[in-house]
Amino acid sequence: MNKSWESAIESLSQISITSSSNNEPVMIDGSSEDLRCVGVGTDAAVFQFLHAPEYAFKLYADSKFSKIEIEESVYDVLGDSTYFSKCYASYDKFLVLSYEEGVTLYDCLLQGIHVPEQVIVDVEKAREYVREKGLNPRDIHLKNILLQNGRAKIIDVSEYVQAGNDFRWEHLKSAYEYYHLIDGKSVPYWLLEAIRKWYNQWNKYAYTFDEFMKYVLRNTTFRK
Ligand SMILES: Nc1ncnc2c1ncn2[C@@H]1O[C@H](COP(=O)(O)OP(=O)(O)O)[C@@H](O)[C@H]1O
Ligand SMILES: [Mg+2]
Repeated sequence: MNKSWESAIESLSQISITSSSNNEPVMIDGSSEDLRCVGVGTDAAVFQFLHAPEYAFKLYADSKFSKIEIEESVYDVLGDSTYFSKCYASYDKFLVLSYEEGVTLYDCLLQGIHVPEQVIVDVEKAREYVREKGLNPRDIHLKNILLQNGRAKIIDVSEYVQAGNDFRWEHLKSAYEYYHLIDGKSVPYWLLEAIRKWYNQWNKYAYTFDEFMKYVLRNTTFRK
């Protein structure tokens, strides 16, 4: 088996990741000239190794190491699917994934990059696929979906072993009905973050999600 990612191990060992409170992004300590950080989440930071750019190394925060095994086992069950990254190996502190080109839907909104309806269709199909494999598609939000050549690629499958519906995807899908209002326009960062934080406690603002959407539309400066 080709283990060309192993040359990255030395560089990765120079970096450690610490989790932050309040669901904020992890902190990165140390650095290596051969690594490029391609994203941060609340559990891990993801790096590309310049000498083997086809891989993404998901380096977990010290307090989140137990999730590595879980996420690897989810990838094992998912098997080969175009909807997800591939997982090649796991180590004490990181997973070796396929590096996926693309822009998160969050960044698409920030930059005014068009998100085609095909992305919604793809995520629906991916969720069906996950269920067929006996897993629970959870935690599907704007930062966990990449737009890749007009199609969706879902990253971060770590919660699929948990029970319960977080309704994040259902809500995003229904919000897409209003997408034409902002299609092709950059949504300012402050506004996107405000909406994200309102959403995290949406039932303070409304009884139903639809009512919450109306609240958002009323309180933002979107123009047709
Ligand atoms: N396989 C990948 N290829 C390219 N970028 C990735 C990949 N996996 C994750 N990323 C980037 O890193 C970010 C954090 O990764 P993620 O797996 O969501 O971490 P967390 O579990 O902490 O949320 C993502 O939002 C994305 O921008
Ligand atoms: Mg994530």
